[in-house]
Amino acid sequence: MQVVGPIFELRALRQQLSGTVGFVPTMGYLHEGHLALVKQARIENSNVIVSIYVNPTQFGLREDFGAYPRELNRDLELLREEGVDIVFVPSDDEMYPPEFSSWVDVEKVTERLEGASRPGHFKGVATVVAKLFNIVQPSRAYFGQKDAQQVVVIKRMVADLNMGIEIVVVPTVRESDGLAMSSRNIYLGPGERQAATVLFKALNLAQQLWWDGEKDAEKIRRQMTSLIQKEPLAQIDYVSIADAETLEELNLIDRPALASLALRIRKIRLIDNMPLE
Ligand code: PAJ
Repeated sequence: MQVVGPIFELRALRQQLSGTVGFVPTMGYLHEGHLALVKQARIENSNVIVSIYVNPTQFGLREDFGAYPRELNRDLELLREEGVDIVFVPSDDEMYPPEFSSWVDVEKVTERLEGASRPGHFKGVATVVAKLFNIVQPSRAYFGQKDAQQVVVIKRMVADLNMGIEIVVVPTVRESDGLAMSSRNIYLGPGERQAATVLFKALNLAQQLWWDGEKDAEKIRRQMTSLIQKEPLAQIDYVSIADAETLEELNLIDRPALASLALRIRKIRLIDNMPLE
């Protein structure tokens, strides 16, 4: 496994590769969720490249960029065990030099949900992913269903800008009690960790109601909301039943839909989702 920082070195290595290149962009502090993407990329491609880069432009002013957990040596060990060929670890200086001034702004699908709660977040995500795609030039790129809106945004960008990269979506990996794996879970104290199971419970309720034939999205949102309100540590940011493609809120569930939510468990903001399709 080769670990490279400078962009020119990554480009040189990339030029020597033949066959398909599967690419997994990450911000590091890897867990089984990230590794599920890597495993699938390994199965489906001749070469696997993983990037580790905590992208400053996707964090809001009051968010946890400085405190974002970093543990590079452990990450590299895990990636070596998965048979990754190249790990790309770019520097801030090279990714965002002082004169940097070009941005990728995906409209409409970024206005709702995470985009509404975190202004500028998806502009940072789309820009860094576009840059990474241009550097790595993958055949396929792997993203987690965990960040459902991110998948919608990246697919839109790839189609709109004719990037010609296949986007592969990997199901959310969960702890045994259903909590979606996330780098932010380490911030949860014991009581908060228990309270955090309410996200999965609310999504299961949504799925159950939908399976039972409920088509009224507002009824499902209301039932999810009242279940969450029984958890004293949880505060609702949003509860959504939306069109799976446009992310517009639905009245009637008459097409593929996405149940999603963002909660604050005391100070820790957690998101999760479940496709209804
Ligand atoms: P990060 O949060 O490190 O996640 C990297 C990838 O792992 C994303 O595609 C994310 O959806 C996926 N992932 C995280 N937790 C998962 C889980 N429990 N199950 C399945 N997949 C999971 O997402 C980002 O980084 C950044 O925004 C990035 C795309 C790297 C751009 O900076």
